[in-house]
Amino acid sequence: MQDHVSPEQILQIGFGFWPSKTLLSAVELGVFTVLANGPMTGAQLQDALELHPRATSDFLDTLVSIGLLNRDGPSASGRYSNTPSTAAFLDRKSPTYIGGLFEMANARLYPFWADLTAALKTGKPQNEVKNGNPALFDTLYSDPARLEQFMDAMSGVSMGNFAAFADKFDFSTYKTMADIGGATGQLASFVARRHPHMSCASYDLAAVQPIAERRIKERGLEGRVKAGVLDFLKQDLPNVDVITTSNILHDWDLATKKMLIAKAYRALPQGGAFVAIENVIDDERRRNAFGLMMSLNMLIETGSGFDYTGAQFNEWCKEAGFKRTEVIHLAGPASAALAYK
Ligand SMILES: C[S@@+](CC[C@H](N)C(=O)[O-])C[C@H]1O[C@@H](n2cnc3c(N)ncnc32)[C@H](O)[C@@H]1O
Repeated sequence: MQDHVSPEQILQIGFGFWPSKTLLSAVELGVFTVLANGPMTGAQLQDALELHPRATSDFLDTLVSIGLLNRDGPSASGRYSNTPSTAAFLDRKSPTYIGGLFEMANARLYPFWADLTAALKTGKPQNEVKNGNPALFDTLYSDPARLEQFMDAMSGVSMGNFAAFADKFDFSTYKTMADIGGATGQLASFVARRHPHMSCASYDLAAVQPIAERRIKERGLEGRVKAGVLDFLKQDLPNVDVITTSNILHDWDLATKKMLIAKAYRALPQGGAFVAIENVIDDERRRNAFGLMMSLNMLIETGSGFDYTGAQFNEWCKEAGFKRTEVIHLAGPASAALAYK
């Protein structure tokens, strides 16, 4: 064996579920929410979180060692506190809480990914539907409280992308925008706030409309951002200058992706733009590991959905009639794929 070959990377990846599950359990237990009230010793946290004495210091010190908590003294007597990031993003009472996504990952994706091998062999979903239970969305739409929790989880993940998109996309020649599958109306709100000349609307299924209306009001954008009802599988898309979709296309098979792109083309004026915000995979399919694993997640979560490269997006959009496409990087692994009519 050569001296410079080390198993370190393999070991780190192979045990990647250790830090992952430690974080997911910490979110589930509310560690970061409890610590929002101020630093606490291990003994105080043990009481507050009802931990077993055997687990307490290893659990908390693991969180320190992976950079998710601070500690101001020795393990036995020091006080644990949130880092600036965990205070902002993992305290349930913070307006920028993204833990809803991790609550969902902990309850659903973590156990479903245990069946990745079965998905790889069969191509079949490994989520609720595997055992004949209703799909997540079917149960969500009939349970407003859970639906709202899911919508808030999505908002947390998408926030950085939407802020970057509102900053980077040139809206100067456009007046109207519609976000399709827009959940709480967050993308339409970001654009309306950043570009006062834009008239923005967000469309989703009927159960989502009251949530979007309330969130838009909370953002102080009532009257500026419309929350409409539209089923993108059954209805035509509205005639606006810019049609956006975020985390929509990857849910569907190729025929439905192309159907949605063709609908966008028909609805747009000459020069209009269609936007797909997603974890667009690099054309060589070598670098965007998160985008590639998101596509594996679609294998587990859907019957036929998959993520795609900018080159694939270009091919499908050209086929629909669009003149040109480009990909602009947003935040982390996410980009906006753009097609101009
Ligand atoms: C994964 S979420 C994406 C939410 C948001 N665009 C984002 O990126 O944060 C998918 C959204 O599509 C909506 N949706 C699903 N099927 C739909 C349909 N047939 N017509 C309209 N919206 C739909 C869901 O209600 C949900 O809000």
